[in-house]
Amino acid sequence: MADDLSLKRLLFTLNALSEFDGDVVSPGEFKKSANSAVSMVLGALCSTKGVIFFYDRGKPEFSAVAGVGVTGVDELKFKGDFYETWFEGLRKCRPLDIKRPVRKPYFPAPLGDALDRMGMRVTACLCVKDEPLGLIAIDGRADGQEYTQRDFDLLSVMAGHISLSLHNQHLLTRLIRKYNDNRDFYENLGHIYYDTIYAFAAAIDAKDAYTKGHSNRVSMYSTALAREMNLAPEEIEGVAIAGLLHDIGKIAVDKSIINKAGPLTSGECGELNSHPVVGYEILSRVKFPWKGIQMITRSHHERVDGAGYPDRLKKDAIPIGARIMALVDAFDAMTTDRPYRPRLNFREAMGEVRANLSRQFDSDVVGHFMSLIRKEASGSSKRAVIIPFIGERLNPATIKRVLEGFPETAA
Ligand SMILES: [Fe+2]
Repeated sequence: MADDLSLKRLLFTLNALSEFDGDVVSPGEFKKSANSAVSMVLGALCSTKGVIFFYDRGKPEFSAVAGVGVTGVDELKFKGDFYETWFEGLRKCRPLDIKRPVRKPYFPAPLGDALDRMGMRVTACLCVKDEPLGLIAIDGRADGQEYTQRDFDLLSVMAGHISLSLHNQHLLTRLIRKYNDNRDFYENLGHIYYDTIYAFAAAIDAKDAYTKGHSNRVSMYSTALAREMNLAPEEIEGVAIAGLLHDIGKIAVDKSIINKAGPLTSGECGELNSHPVVGYEILSRVKFPWKGIQMITRSHHERVDGAGYPDRLKKDAIPIGARIMALVDAFDAMTTDRPYRPRLNFREAMGEVRANLSRQFDSDVVGHFMSLIRKEASGSSKRAVIIPFIGERLNPATIKRVLEGFPETAA
Protein backbone atom coordinates (compact mmCIF):
# COMPACT_ATOMS: atom_id res chain seq x y z
CA MET A 1 0.00 0.00 0.00
CA ALA A 2 2.76 2.36 1.03
CA ASP A 3 4.71 1.43 -2.12
CA ASP A 4 1.63 2.09 -4.27
CA LEU A 5 1.32 5.53 -2.72
CA SER A 6 4.99 6.32 -3.34
CA LEU A 7 4.74 5.11 -6.93
CA LYS A 8 1.67 7.25 -7.53
CA ARG A 9 3.44 10.22 -5.96
CA LEU A 10 6.45 9.67 -8.19
CA LEU A 11 4.35 9.33 -11.34
CA PHE A 12 2.32 12.44 -10.45
CA THR A 13 5.48 14.42 -9.84
CA LEU A 14 7.18 13.31 -13.05
CA ASN A 15 4.02 14.10 -15.01
CA ALA A 16 3.85 17.53 -13.45
CA LEU A 17 7.54 18.11 -14.12
CA SER A 18 7.13 17.21 -17.79
CA GLU A 19 5.56 20.67 -18.12
CA PHE A 20 8.87 22.09 -16.92
CA ASP A 21 11.04 20.05 -19.24
CA GLY A 22 13.60 22.53 -20.37
CA ASP A 23 11.80 24.25 -23.23
CA VAL A 24 13.33 27.60 -24.14
CA VAL A 25 10.85 30.27 -23.10
CA SER A 26 10.87 34.03 -22.60
CA PRO A 27 12.24 35.36 -19.26
CA GLY A 28 8.70 36.25 -18.07
CA GLU A 29 7.35 32.79 -18.91
CA PHE A 30 10.38 31.14 -17.33
CA LYS A 31 9.74 32.90 -14.03
CA LYS A 32 6.16 31.63 -14.02
CA SER A 33 7.09 28.05 -14.88
CA ALA A 34 10.01 28.08 -12.39
CA ASN A 35 7.57 29.11 -9.66
CA SER A 36 5.27 26.28 -10.75
CA ALA A 37 8.21 23.87 -10.51
CA VAL A 38 8.92 25.00 -6.95
CA SER A 39 5.23 24.52 -6.08
CA MET A 40 5.35 20.99 -7.50
CA VAL A 41 8.44 20.15 -5.48
CA LEU A 42 6.79 21.49 -2.33
CA GLY A 43 3.60 19.53 -3.07
CA ALA A 44 5.53 16.31 -3.66
CA LEU A 45 7.66 16.67 -0.53
CA CYS A 46 5.01 18.09 1.80
CA SER A 47 6.82 21.35 2.51
CA THR A 48 5.71 24.98 2.27
CA LYS A 49 8.75 27.07 1.36
CA GLY A 50 11.19 26.68 -1.47
CA VAL A 51 13.61 28.74 -3.57
CA ILE A 52 15.59 28.18 -6.77
CA PHE A 53 18.88 30.06 -6.85
CA PHE A 54 21.03 30.75 -9.88
CA TYR A 55 24.78 30.93 -9.19
CA ASP A 56 26.76 33.62 -10.98
CA ARG A 57 30.36 32.46 -10.76
CA GLY A 58 31.67 35.79 -12.06
CA LYS A 59 30.33 37.83 -9.15
CA PRO A 60 30.28 35.25 -7.27
CA GLU A 61 26.71 35.31 -6.01
CA PHE A 62 23.54 33.27 -5.61
CA SER A 63 20.36 35.08 -6.68
CA ALA A 64 16.84 33.71 -6.48
CA VAL A 65 15.03 33.12 -9.78
CA ALA A 66 11.86 31.63 -8.26
CA GLY A 67 10.41 31.12 -4.82
CA VAL A 68 7.24 30.04 -3.06
CA GLY A 69 6.37 30.87 0.57
CA VAL A 70 9.18 33.40 0.86
CA THR A 71 8.95 37.18 0.52
CA GLY A 72 11.07 39.46 -1.67
CA VAL A 73 12.29 36.71 -4.03
CA ASP A 74 13.72 39.22 -6.50
CA GLU A 75 15.99 40.69 -3.81
CA LEU A 76 16.97 37.32 -2.37
CA LYS A 77 20.68 36.86 -2.94
CA PHE A 78 23.88 36.11 -1.08
CA LYS A 79 27.51 36.35 -1.97
CA GLY A 80 30.24 33.78 -1.60
CA ASP A 81 32.66 31.76 -3.68
CA PHE A 82 31.26 28.29 -3.27
CA TYR A 83 32.34 26.88 -6.58
CA GLU A 84 35.44 25.01 -5.52
CA THR A 85 33.88 23.74 -2.31
CA TRP A 86 30.18 23.20 -2.39
CA PHE A 87 29.64 22.67 -6.12
CA GLU A 88 32.68 20.49 -6.61
CA GLY A 89 31.56 18.21 -3.78
CA LEU A 90 27.80 18.35 -3.91
CA ARG A 91 27.28 18.05 -7.63
CA LYS A 92 28.44 14.45 -7.39
CA CYS A 93 26.19 13.78 -4.40
CA ARG A 94 22.58 13.59 -3.46
CA PRO A 95 20.39 16.26 -1.84
CA LEU A 96 21.69 17.33 1.50
CA ASP A 97 20.12 18.09 4.87
CA ILE A 98 21.78 21.35 5.82
CA LYS A 99 21.17 20.67 9.52
CA ARG A 100 23.46 17.68 9.26
CA PRO A 101 26.40 18.85 7.17
CA VAL A 102 28.97 17.58 9.61
CA ARG A 103 29.88 14.58 7.51
CA LYS A 104 30.20 16.75 4.38
CA PRO A 105 33.43 18.68 4.68
CA TYR A 106 32.84 20.34 1.29
CA PHE A 107 29.64 21.97 2.49
CA PRO A 108 30.63 25.52 3.51
CA ALA A 109 29.21 26.78 6.78
CA PRO A 110 28.34 30.29 5.39
CA LEU A 111 26.14 28.69 2.72
CA GLY A 112 24.39 26.53 5.33
CA ASP A 113 23.92 29.60 7.55
CA ALA A 114 22.45 31.68 4.70
CA LEU A 115 19.94 28.95 3.81
CA ASP A 116 19.17 28.33 7.46
CA ARG A 117 18.38 32.02 7.97
CA MET A 118 15.82 31.72 5.18
CA GLY A 119 14.24 28.79 6.99
CA MET A 120 15.50 26.20 4.49
CA ARG A 121 16.25 22.65 5.49
CA VAL A 122 17.27 20.62 2.44
CA THR A 123 19.23 21.65 -0.62
CA ALA A 124 20.18 20.04 -3.90
CA CYS A 125 22.70 21.19 -6.45
CA LEU A 126 21.42 22.09 -9.91
CA CYS A 127 23.87 21.19 -12.65
CA VAL A 128 23.91 20.04 -16.26
CA LYS A 129 26.77 17.91 -17.56
CA ASP A 130 28.89 18.73 -14.52
CA GLU A 131 28.30 22.44 -15.04
CA PRO A 132 26.96 23.86 -11.75
CA LEU A 133 24.10 26.29 -12.26
CA GLY A 134 22.60 26.88 -8.83
CA LEU A 135 20.61 25.16 -6.15
CA ILE A 136 17.13 24.43 -4.97
CA ALA A 137 16.37 24.68 -1.25
CA ILE A 138 13.20 23.76 0.63
CA ASP A 139 12.12 23.99 4.25
CA GLY A 140 11.24 21.05 6.52
CA ARG A 141 8.15 18.89 6.06
CA ALA A 142 4.93 20.60 7.06
CA ASP A 143 3.82 17.52 9.03
CA GLY A 144 6.91 17.72 11.21
CA GLN A 145 8.31 14.40 10.03
CA GLU A 146 11.86 13.89 8.83
CA TYR A 147 12.52 13.55 5.12
CA THR A 148 13.01 9.97 4.00
CA GLN A 149 15.47 8.54 1.53
CA ARG A 150 12.60 8.34 -1.01
CA ASP A 151 11.99 12.10 -0.57
CA PHE A 152 15.63 12.71 -1.33
CA ASP A 153 15.42 10.45 -4.41
CA LEU A 154 12.39 12.38 -5.62
CA LEU A 155 14.11 15.72 -5.06
CA SER A 156 17.10 14.42 -6.97
CA VAL A 157 14.95 13.57 -10.03
CA MET A 158 13.16 16.90 -9.85
CA ALA A 159 16.45 18.79 -9.53
CA GLY A 160 17.57 17.16 -12.80
CA HIS A 161 14.52 18.51 -14.66
CA ILE A 162 14.85 21.95 -13.13
CA SER A 163 18.56 22.03 -13.96
CA LEU A 164 17.88 21.47 -17.65
CA SER A 165 15.34 24.26 -17.74
CA LEU A 166 17.63 26.63 -15.83
CA HIS A 167 20.45 25.76 -18.22
CA ASN A 168 18.33 26.57 -21.29
CA GLN A 169 17.11 29.76 -19.67
CA HIS A 170 20.68 30.76 -18.90
CA LEU A 171 21.62 30.20 -22.55
CA LEU A 172 18.62 32.23 -23.70
CA THR A 173 19.48 35.09 -21.33
CA ARG A 174 23.04 35.12 -22.65
CA LEU A 175 21.72 35.08 -26.22
CA ILE A 176 19.36 37.99 -25.54
CA ARG A 177 22.19 39.95 -23.89
CA LYS A 178 24.44 39.25 -26.88
CA TYR A 179 21.66 40.28 -29.27
CA ASN A 180 21.13 43.54 -27.36
CA ASP A 181 24.88 44.23 -27.29
CA ASN A 182 25.09 43.60 -31.03
CA ARG A 183 22.03 45.76 -31.71
CA ASP A 184 23.55 48.62 -29.69
CA PHE A 185 26.83 48.13 -31.51
CA TYR A 186 25.19 48.30 -34.95
CA GLU A 187 23.09 51.30 -33.93
CA ASN A 188 26.27 53.11 -32.89
CA LEU A 189 27.94 51.99 -36.08
CA GLY A 190 24.94 53.35 -38.01
CA HIS A 191 25.37 56.74 -36.33
CA ILE A 192 29.07 56.76 -37.18
CA TYR A 193 28.16 55.81 -40.76
CA TYR A 194 25.70 58.68 -41.13
CA ASP A 195 28.07 61.12 -39.41
CA THR A 196 30.80 60.15 -41.89
CA ILE A 197 28.47 60.64 -44.86
CA TYR A 198 27.36 64.05 -43.54
CA ALA A 199 31.01 64.98 -43.06
CA PHE A 200 31.67 64.04 -46.70
CA ALA A 201 28.68 66.11 -47.83
CA ALA A 202 30.01 69.10 -45.88
CA ALA A 203 33.46 68.60 -47.44
CA ILE A 204 31.92 68.54 -50.95
CA ASP A 205 29.90 71.70 -50.34
CA ALA A 206 32.84 73.49 -48.70
CA LYS A 207 34.64 73.46 -52.06
CA ASP A 208 31.97 75.61 -53.63
CA ALA A 209 31.52 79.06 -52.10
CA TYR A 210 27.98 79.23 -53.50
CA THR A 211 26.64 75.80 -52.68
CA LYS A 212 26.72 75.76 -48.90
CA GLY A 213 24.17 73.20 -47.76
CA HIS A 214 23.43 72.11 -51.36
CA SER A 215 23.98 68.38 -50.73
CA ASN A 216 21.83 68.49 -47.59
CA ARG A 217 19.00 70.23 -49.43
CA VAL A 218 19.23 67.85 -52.40
CA SER A 219 19.05 64.95 -49.96
CA MET A 220 16.00 66.42 -48.20
CA TYR A 221 14.17 67.31 -51.42
CA SER A 222 14.90 63.96 -53.08
CA THR A 223 13.85 62.03 -49.97
CA ALA A 224 10.53 63.90 -49.83
CA LEU A 225 10.01 63.36 -53.55
CA ALA A 226 10.88 59.64 -53.36
CA ARG A 227 8.30 59.33 -50.57
CA GLU A 228 5.74 61.20 -52.64
CA MET A 229 6.40 58.70 -55.45
CA ASN A 230 5.85 55.79 -53.05
CA LEU A 231 9.25 54.23 -53.62
CA ALA A 232 10.21 51.28 -51.39
CA PRO A 233 11.71 52.26 -47.98
CA GLU A 234 15.18 50.97 -48.93
CA GLU A 235 15.06 52.97 -52.18
CA ILE A 236 14.06 56.11 -50.25
CA GLU A 237 17.01 55.60 -47.89
CA GLY A 238 19.33 55.06 -50.87
CA VAL A 239 18.06 58.29 -52.48
CA ALA A 240 18.65 60.17 -49.20
CA ILE A 241 22.28 59.00 -49.02
CA ALA A 242 22.85 59.56 -52.75
CA GLY A 243 21.56 63.11 -52.30
CA LEU A 244 24.34 63.74 -49.81
CA LEU A 245 27.03 62.15 -51.97
CA HIS A 246 25.94 62.81 -55.58
CA ASP A 247 28.60 65.51 -56.13
CA ILE A 248 31.43 63.69 -54.31
CA GLY A 249 33.35 63.56 -57.62
CA LYS A 250 33.79 67.34 -57.35
CA ILE A 251 36.46 66.62 -54.75
CA ALA A 252 38.73 65.83 -57.71
CA VAL A 253 37.78 69.01 -59.63
CA ASP A 254 39.91 72.12 -59.24
CA LYS A 255 38.32 74.65 -56.91
CA SER A 256 38.94 77.52 -59.35
CA ILE A 257 36.79 75.74 -61.97
CA ILE A 258 33.93 75.13 -59.54
CA ASN A 259 33.93 78.78 -58.44
CA LYS A 260 34.65 80.39 -61.83
CA ALA A 261 32.29 83.32 -62.53
CA GLY A 262 32.81 83.44 -66.30
CA PRO A 263 32.26 80.82 -68.99
CA LEU A 264 34.35 77.65 -68.73
CA THR A 265 36.81 76.60 -71.40
CA SER A 266 36.15 73.21 -73.01
CA GLY A 267 38.96 71.71 -70.90
CA GLU A 268 37.46 73.11 -67.72
CA CYS A 269 34.03 71.95 -68.81
CA GLY A 270 35.39 68.43 -69.38
CA GLU A 271 36.98 68.39 -65.94
CA LEU A 272 33.79 69.60 -64.24
CA ASN A 273 31.63 67.16 -66.19
CA SER A 274 33.83 64.26 -65.15
CA HIS A 275 32.53 64.52 -61.56
CA PRO A 276 29.66 61.97 -61.95
CA VAL A 277 32.09 59.28 -63.21
CA VAL A 278 34.75 60.20 -60.62
CA GLY A 279 32.05 60.06 -57.92
CA TYR A 280 30.86 56.70 -59.23
CA GLU A 281 34.40 55.33 -59.08
CA ILE A 282 34.93 56.62 -55.55
CA LEU A 283 31.62 55.21 -54.30
CA SER A 284 32.04 51.88 -56.13
CA ARG A 285 34.74 51.07 -53.61
CA VAL A 286 32.25 51.49 -50.76
CA LYS A 287 29.96 48.61 -49.81
CA PHE A 288 26.74 50.45 -48.97
CA PRO A 289 23.85 48.68 -47.27
CA TRP A 290 21.54 50.27 -49.90
CA LYS A 291 21.53 49.57 -53.62
CA GLY A 292 21.86 52.11 -56.39
CA ILE A 293 23.83 54.91 -54.73
CA GLN A 294 26.74 54.56 -57.16
CA MET A 295 24.50 54.60 -60.26
CA ILE A 296 22.43 57.54 -58.99
CA THR A 297 25.70 59.44 -58.56
CA ARG A 298 26.89 58.48 -62.04
CA SER A 299 23.59 59.34 -63.73
CA HIS A 300 22.42 62.49 -61.95
CA HIS A 301 23.33 64.66 -64.98
CA GLU A 302 21.61 62.42 -67.53
CA ARG A 303 18.58 63.87 -69.37
CA VAL A 304 15.50 61.92 -70.43
CA ASP A 305 16.05 63.08 -74.04
CA GLY A 306 19.47 61.42 -74.07
CA ALA A 307 21.45 64.68 -74.25
CA GLY A 308 22.93 64.35 -70.76
CA TYR A 309 26.21 62.90 -69.54
CA PRO A 310 28.21 60.72 -69.02
CA ASP A 311 26.35 57.84 -70.73
CA ARG A 312 23.66 59.72 -72.71
CA LEU A 313 21.01 57.45 -71.24
CA LYS A 314 17.35 58.04 -72.15
CA LYS A 315 14.10 57.93 -70.17
CA ASP A 316 13.63 54.73 -68.15
CA ALA A 317 17.24 53.65 -68.78
CA ILE A 318 18.12 56.33 -66.20
CA PRO A 319 17.64 54.96 -62.67
CA ILE A 320 14.57 56.49 -61.00
CA GLY A 321 16.77 57.81 -58.15
CA ALA A 322 18.91 59.63 -60.73
CA ARG A 323 15.83 61.14 -62.43
CA ILE A 324 14.70 62.43 -59.02
CA MET A 325 18.20 63.74 -58.30
CA ALA A 326 18.44 65.46 -61.70
CA LEU A 327 15.29 67.49 -60.97
CA VAL A 328 15.95 68.49 -57.35
CA ASP A 329 19.66 69.16 -58.05
CA ALA A 330 18.69 71.56 -60.85
CA PHE A 331 15.87 73.06 -58.77
CA ASP A 332 18.25 73.84 -55.89
CA ALA A 333 20.86 75.20 -58.32
CA MET A 334 18.21 77.50 -59.85
CA THR A 335 16.87 78.77 -56.51
CA THR A 336 20.31 79.61 -55.03
CA ASP A 337 22.92 82.16 -56.11
CA ARG A 338 25.65 80.89 -58.45
CA PRO A 339 28.98 82.50 -59.41
CA TYR A 340 27.67 83.15 -62.92
CA ARG A 341 24.13 84.41 -62.03
CA PRO A 342 21.90 85.36 -59.10
CA ARG A 343 19.20 82.95 -57.97
CA LEU A 344 15.97 82.65 -59.97
CA ASN A 345 12.73 83.37 -58.19
CA PHE A 346 10.16 80.63 -57.77
CA ARG A 347 8.16 81.64 -60.85
CA GLU A 348 11.30 81.72 -63.05
CA ALA A 349 12.55 78.38 -61.71
CA MET A 350 9.20 76.76 -62.36
CA GLY A 351 9.24 78.25 -65.85
CA GLU A 352 12.62 76.55 -66.48
CA VAL A 353 11.27 73.25 -65.22
CA ARG A 354 8.22 73.59 -67.46
CA ALA A 355 10.40 74.47 -70.48
CA ASN A 356 12.51 71.35 -69.92
CA LEU A 357 9.68 68.95 -69.20
CA SER A 358 10.31 65.63 -71.03
CA ARG A 359 13.63 67.00 -72.30
CA GLN A 360 15.87 67.39 -69.30
CA PHE A 361 13.39 66.20 -66.68
CA ASP A 362 11.18 63.14 -66.39
CA SER A 363 7.57 64.37 -66.67
CA ASP A 364 6.27 61.85 -64.12
CA VAL A 365 8.90 62.93 -61.59
CA VAL A 366 8.05 66.60 -62.27
CA GLY A 367 4.36 65.83 -61.77
CA HIS A 368 5.03 64.35 -58.36
CA PHE A 369 7.32 67.25 -57.46
CA MET A 370 4.54 69.73 -58.24
CA SER A 371 2.12 67.62 -56.28
CA LEU A 372 4.52 67.73 -53.31
CA ILE A 373 4.85 71.53 -53.50
CA ARG A 374 1.06 71.89 -53.76
CA LYS A 375 0.65 69.76 -50.62
CA GLU A 376 3.22 71.88 -48.79
CA ALA A 377 1.49 75.08 -49.92
CA SER A 378 -1.94 73.88 -48.79
CA GLY A 379 -0.55 72.71 -45.43
CA SER A 380 -1.65 69.13 -46.04
CA SER A 381 1.89 67.69 -45.87
CA LYS A 382 3.27 66.65 -42.48
CA ARG A 383 6.39 68.79 -42.80
CA ALA A 384 7.29 71.29 -45.51
CA VAL A 385 10.87 70.66 -46.73
CA ILE A 386 10.95 72.53 -50.05
CA ILE A 387 9.03 75.82 -49.64
CA PRO A 388 11.02 76.96 -46.53
CA PHE A 389 14.25 76.80 -48.57
CA ILE A 390 13.07 78.58 -51.70
CA GLY A 391 14.29 81.87 -50.23
CA GLU A 392 11.32 84.14 -50.84
CA ARG A 393 8.04 84.81 -49.12
CA LEU A 394 5.48 82.71 -50.90
CA ASN A 395 1.83 82.55 -50.00
CA PRO A 396 -0.33 79.57 -51.02
CA ALA A 397 -2.22 81.68 -53.60
CA THR A 398 1.03 82.64 -55.37
CA ILE A 399 2.25 79.05 -55.42
CA LYS A 400 -1.10 77.88 -56.76
CA ARG A 401 -0.95 80.48 -59.54
CA VAL A 402 2.64 79.59 -60.51
CA LEU A 403 1.87 75.87 -60.63
CA GLU A 404 -1.31 76.29 -62.66
CA GLY A 405 -1.19 74.08 -65.70
CA PHE A 406 1.48 71.78 -64.27
CA PRO A 407 0.21 68.23 -64.19
CA GLU A 408 -0.21 66.56 -60.76
CA THR A 409 1.42 63.54 -62.23
CA ALA A 410 2.20 63.74 -65.90
CA ALA A 411 1.45 60.83 -68.18
FE1 LIG B 1 26.42 67.27 -60.01
